[in-house]
Amino acid sequence: MKVPTGIPGLDGLIEGGFEEGTITLVTGGTGTGKSIFSTQFIYNGAVQYNQNGIYITTEETAKNIKKQTAKFRWDIDTLESEGAMKIIEIEPFDIETLSEKIMEIAGTMNAKRIVIDSVSMFEMYIHDPFKIRKTLFKMLQRIREMNMLCIVTAEIPEESKGLSRFGVIEFMVDSVILLKYLGIAKYKRSLTIRKMRMTDHSSDIHPFEITPAGIEVYSV
Ligand SMILES: Nc1ncnc2c1ncn2[C@@H]1O[C@H](COP(=O)(O)OP(=O)(O)OP(=O)(O)O)[C@@H](O)[C@H]1O
Ligand SMILES: [Mg+2]
Repeated sequence: MKVPTGIPGLDGLIEGGFEEGTITLVTGGTGTGKSIFSTQFIYNGAVQYNQNGIYITTEETAKNIKKQTAKFRWDIDTLESEGAMKIIEIEPFDIETLSEKIMEIAGTMNAKRIVIDSVSMFEMYIHDPFKIRKTLFKMLQRIREMNMLCIVTAEIPEESKGLSRFGVIEFMVDSVILLKYLGIAKYKRSLTIRKMRMTDHSSDIHPFEITPAGIEVYSV
């Protein structure tokens, strides 16, 4: 079943939203909006669609995420106190036990959405490409089985032409959304749906903005 993402302007480009039990990679260079996109997905999921959500952060502290999103007037503290959202800070070595942790917390809070921001940290922690694939595959499979909506983020280094640092994660997910910072045109940021399995999605390059209310995607 398709579920609206909560990102204004996006659902109309992807036949109504994300499919339950699928994994979406939100990838892009530094500062392209991956964390804001992911927080908005969890926040609006809870507020607009009554879906509880877990935000796993490997790079920023929970405090920083809240500070950033307070600008958009997203009251995460209240959601947390109601049990509708949970931010979890983890270290790269937690990857081995992460699936179990996710299953346990998701069960307790009846979570329907999950974000892992980002998986690049795990990839850097585990050097062996085969082991990265195996470990991430196992974790993503578990999340799929839970039938949640899931976003994972990855970073693209400035010089890279690929969709992630190690060129692995994009093949393991169902959908890929690419964010870019252009910096020159009228609209400074763009969003492209690079793949979305089982979906007749837009193949255009869409401008988007980070407005005082969060991310808004425009059609072309
Ligand atoms: N309140 C705001 N209004 C408009 N733009 C903002 C606002 N807050 C942040 N931004 C923009 O968003 C960018 C940060 O977005 P975000 O943290 O989501 O990026 P990211 O892709 O996760 O980056 P990183 O590589 O650090 O993980 C800032 O560099 C800034 O350009
Ligand atoms: Mg980020």
